[in-house]
Amino acid sequence: MLKGLIFDLDGVITDSAVYHLKAWQDLARGIGIELPEEFGDKLRGLSRMDSLEIILEYGHKENDYSQEEKEALAAKKNAAYVNAVKGMTKADILPKMDDLLKQAKAQGLKLALASASKNAPLILKQLGLEDMFEARVDPATLKHGKPDPEIYIRAQELLGLEKDEVISFEDAPAGIQAIKAAGQFAVGIGDPIVLQGADYIVGSTSALDLTEIEKVFEAGN
Ligand code: BG6
Ligand code: MG
Repeated sequence: MLKGLIFDLDGVITDSAVYHLKAWQDLARGIGIELPEEFGDKLRGLSRMDSLEIILEYGHKENDYSQEEKEALAAKKNAAYVNAVKGMTKADILPKMDDLLKQAKAQGLKLALASASKNAPLILKQLGLEDMFEARVDPATLKHGKPDPEIYIRAQELLGLEKDEVISFEDAPAGIQAIKAAGQFAVGIGDPIVLQGADYIVGSTSALDLTEIEKVFEAGN
């Protein structure tokens, strides 16, 4: 029986993925790497340092920086990102997401956040959603990033639920892999080819219908 919902943040609750990409593009340009728009999809769901690593590899510069220098680059990107998301408001919650969260609450479902972002508390505050989630995973306490299932298992445990009692929402291929490796029901938001492996896929949050998703979930359980 469904008892809880677990959400990724960037790309699911709000479109902060565009700010991540812009901040990485600006940083990369400064070290001679031009990142195409499509690179944003590769970065979805990856931790800050994993993102930097794949950017440096893309630019064939993975061996050009010490660990300390890489941390300085990541900190620079983060400062630009934080500056950009400080302008976010409630209006930046993706379509239908506010309704879905309210419907879930009204049904008595427990809600958890499984975001890899260390900036999640700031973003939730900007969106006015800081009291919405019973549980939030602190990504600083994780050993492995997505696609490892650790973050989704932790979120489910924090809610005190079993894997067959939750539905988890993701926009990233690495996130869908993490959810499925945790043995949970995955809702993918985005391109169905990229998100194959999810149990239910919508093109965008505008197409989300919790009652419909619950029907598919219950049919499979
Ligand atoms: C994820 C984003 O939610 O958080 C990634 O999809 C990002 O793009 C990751 O790298 C870490 O975020 P932050 O805010 O801690 O740098
Ligand atoms: Mg995401």
